[in-house]
Amino acid sequence: MTSNRPRIVRLVDVKDESSTVRTMTFRDDLCSKAKPGQFIMVWIPGVDEIPMSISVIKEDLAGLTVREVGEASKTLFDIKAGGTIGIRGPYGNGFTPIIGKVMIIGAGTGLAPLMPLTEILAERSASIDMIIGGKTIDEFVFVDRAKRALFKTKSRLVTTTEDGSHGIRGLATDAILPILREKSTDIIYTCGPELMMRKVFSIAQESGVPVQASLERVMKCGIGICGSCCIGKYRACKDGPVFDSPKLEEVKDEFGAFRRDHSGRIIKLSTN
Ligand SMILES: Cc1cc2nc3c(=O)[nH]c(=O)nc-3n(C[C@H](O)[C@H](O)[C@H](O)COP(=O)(O)OP(=O)(O)OC[C@H]3O[C@@H](n4cnc5c(N)ncnc54)[C@H](O)[C@@H]3O)c2cc1C
Ligand code: FES
Repeated sequence: MTSNRPRIVRLVDVKDESSTVRTMTFRDDLCSKAKPGQFIMVWIPGVDEIPMSISVIKEDLAGLTVREVGEASKTLFDIKAGGTIGIRGPYGNGFTPIIGKVMIIGAGTGLAPLMPLTEILAERSASIDMIIGGKTIDEFVFVDRAKRALFKTKSRLVTTTEDGSHGIRGLATDAILPILREKSTDIIYTCGPELMMRKVFSIAQESGVPVQASLERVMKCGIGICGSCCIGKYRACKDGPVFDSPKLEEVKDEFGAFRRDHSGRIIKLSTN
């Protein structure tokens, strides 16, 4: 079966990660063999088709983690175990896991593609420094899953909140430099709000550490045809969604500065 072939899958389990985020697992041969960082197009009948990272990659199971933000994600969020969704994919390049000293930094549903990556890296006995950030404790997802994955490795988990309700008070990016000063790091993997990833990239550039960042753009076809996900000369669905440092350097005028809405109009990214 090719990944382009649409199929209907039944949700085996639906788990609350927070009041607005749920992880849904299903059986699908292709998705359960996906690379961490790849995504699927999820069809919600009668509503829309939206891109979702593959957040669970297990022997016979795959999963996605959805935050309810608009019509399609809210409808998806409300589907119960036993319900069905349409999927096609996996699409995109995914992260390239290395064996070495790695840093993983994510926030919100940006952690969705980072979790299977963390689990794979932990199995390979990599040394992992993981930073999970959020505005408040209520926004935290995947902390227990991260602890379980990191338990057996030479790892450290740092949590940050802007209001100090969990872990260190401040931004996730504030935790990077103290770690980089303490030990050498071979690569930084990141996914989350684009302004956070832009800051990660700047710090990493100044410190000479390569980055792989998973970017989010409006995606319609998911297979490189429609052009709705363009960033610089790249299509995020086909050439990404994971961009390494040389590619991020090429799109640095756009990365962390603006994105396009569904009609192609430029939307400036802001901290609000
Ligand atoms: C490769 C990829 C992987 C993704 N993985 C996940 C995931 O694992 N979990 C998850 O919850 N979401 C993920 N998303 C985002 C998800 O696809 C969107 O939140 C969803 O399409 C919104 O659809 P909607 O109809 O619910 O909301 P809409 O009504 O379309 O939008 C609701 C609000 O969100 C904003 N918005 C919508 N899409 C984007 C975007 N791409 N960038 C910035 N703002 C946007 C809109 O401007 C609006 O303010 C991913 C997106 C991409 C491109
Ligand atoms: S979503 Fe159509 S080209 Fe990327």
